[in-house]
Amino acid sequence: MNSMNDDKSREALRRASEMAGPEPVTPDRVDIIPVCQPTLEGNERKYVMQCMDTNWISSRGKFVDEFEESFSHYCGVRFGITTNSGTTALHLALATMGLGDGDEVIIPSFTMISTANAVSYLGGKPIPVDVEPDTWNIDPDKIEAKITDKTRAIIPIHTYGHPADMDRLQSIADKYGLDIVEDAAEAHGAEYKGKRVGSFGKMASFSFYANKIITTGEGGMIVTDNEELADRIGTLRNYGFTQERHFWHKVMGFSYRMTNLQAAIGLGQFEKIDELVQGRIDNARLYSKLLADISGITTPHESKDVKAVYWMYGVLVEDDFGISKDELRQKLADRGIETRSFFIPIHLQPIYSYLLSDEFPVSEELGRKGFYLPSASNLRPDQIEFIVEVIRDARP
Ligand SMILES: Cc1ncc(COP(=O)(O)O)c(C=O)c1O
Repeated sequence: MNSMNDDKSREALRRASEMAGPEPVTPDRVDIIPVCQPTLEGNERKYVMQCMDTNWISSRGKFVDEFEESFSHYCGVRFGITTNSGTTALHLALATMGLGDGDEVIIPSFTMISTANAVSYLGGKPIPVDVEPDTWNIDPDKIEAKITDKTRAIIPIHTYGHPADMDRLQSIADKYGLDIVEDAAEAHGAEYKGKRVGSFGKMASFSFYANKIITTGEGGMIVTDNEELADRIGTLRNYGFTQERHFWHKVMGFSYRMTNLQAAIGLGQFEKIDELVQGRIDNARLYSKLLADISGITTPHESKDVKAVYWMYGVLVEDDFGISKDELRQKLADRGIETRSFFIPIHLQPIYSYLLSDEFPVSEELGRKGFYLPSASNLRPDQIEFIVEVIRDARP
């Protein structure tokens, strides 16, 4: 690496370390308020016990089909294909499209690393685009400048549960002949102009990691309305087995299946999805109301025409708050309140340092100022009141 590149990397490391340092230590006490935890109060246990009692613990059990059907129909499409994570769902979706060497895919610069990695696993090149300062989603005004003759697709994410501007994204995709694959990992149940996320674009991927609005512990799903794609995804998920002969492979598939045990939990969760989504929304309404008069804290924006589901309730600590984000997070941790800092943008990640030549000022500002507060669906109003009081008292 030449010295100019060395300087750039050092500078990037400095900027990244302003965003997320080591996590503040959460005191060793039983009464902490975790940043998130699942609510497993429905039929999850009963369905898991049915798997145990019948010996159906692999992916070949009835709960897998039931969960796929229920969740995909909820999203407004006909097919769901479960996977063992949200990352493998995205990888599989892109593999099914035949994404390969040198293909470029537009992604937001402010996202979880999985969005970029799913492209890279296949030899493609993630092309980050900066995000909007209010919704924290990919900025449609900045996409066209990044499109080349190698661009194949756009992957929007619905950041922290706020839907991306799907109409504008679709019109750009149509103009340049690109596919849209939604990374809906964070947005179960969110709506854009009355339609659920997951029903836009060619395919969409979801995550069911334990902190997601509904969970299977670890897990994911691709949803699509296209039967041919759904069949291909199913084949690729399962080693690329052919119908005609067992152990006979014409395509290089993956081993990305969800187990019946996970799907049993997923189905139990799905039965309560309306309640779990509403819990997140109620949290957000109360947080925003109570935080409104604390200057220096910016609360999340909600665009008209969307139903945001507030997977995580994020705030920005502005310079006039008086103490830094890290100091505020430490004060919350001292009172037993767990928080998480926002993403470090893709271009500042050591594995994507070749993207450093470009600039992503909004993503960097979010990374520097943002963190999220406890957001579980079963968080109680008195806990939110306590958290807001700790923030109020922390202001010098
Ligand atoms: C936007 C986004 N995409 C993908 C993922 C990856 O999901 P998983 O952890 O299930 O692999 C996440 C996880 O939180 C995410 O936030």
